[in-house]
Amino acid sequence: MIRVAAVGDIHMGPESQGVLRPAFETLPECADLLLLAGDLTRHGTPEEARVVAREIQDLAVPVVAVLGNHDHHDERPQEVAALLEDAGARVLEGSATVVTVGDTRVGVAGTKGFGGGFVGRSAGEFGEPLMKEFVRYSRRSADALRQALEDLDEQGCDVRIALTHFSPVPETLAGEPLEIYPFLGSYLLAEAIDTAGADLAVHGHAHAGTEHGITTGGVKVRNVAQPVIGRAFRVYHLRVREQAAAGAGRGDSERLEKGAPAGG
Ligand SMILES: [Fe+2]
Ligand SMILES: [Fe+2]
Repeated sequence: MIRVAAVGDIHMGPESQGVLRPAFETLPECADLLLLAGDLTRHGTPEEARVVAREIQDLAVPVVAVLGNHDHHDERPQEVAALLEDAGARVLEGSATVVTVGDTRVGVAGTKGFGGGFVGRSAGEFGEPLMKEFVRYSRRSADALRQALEDLDEQGCDVRIALTHFSPVPETLAGEPLEIYPFLGSYLLAEAIDTAGADLAVHGHAHAGTEHGITTGGVKVRNVAQPVIGRAFRVYHLRVREQAAAGAGRGDSERLEKGAPAGG
């Protein structure tokens, strides 16, 4: 059983220092890794990124992150990512990493993702260059996620997780105004996840959304935006393939979940 802690949209600023650290220090007791689903800062400034970096510095569990749109606002996402990496986090963008937990190889494929909307209500690659570029940006992000998940499969990972900031499905947006769904996620991300396969998809961004969703291919989706989960992080328990094969078929994953300590 792999224990995956996750939170997004912690939106830290100068006065946030120390708010999450006490809860993060309890992670080794309840989780094998921590996923950060983007919007870690408010405006993507290096000053804010340093606050996040100190919050995660030298945690006793591996930290894997993607950035969110807020982390891009100051147009220095590489600097933000570098500061988090200096603190020990692995920051993904169209890439993947493998965390080893005992004998189990946990693969995490990550991308920020982007908007565009969902099937039947989505933006099309048509018309003005800006509109086409909007959709192409989403498509490139989804293609990179699919490739990263497929690479993890080839590497023989026992568990694969898709980590994004934008949502792959509309279910986890329930509670948000319908009018802004196209800015909250893209069905292209879910297509990528279903094509490549994954045991869990984790995202943030939709502060007024809903925690639980599922792709049409049956991959469980969790919106871990902090305002949604209402705690420092959530922990999801995933069965590894060997265990699943014995009980319910290769690649099957089961989510058991429990509350994590509150902490801001
Ligand atoms: Fe956010
Ligand atoms: Fe966001």
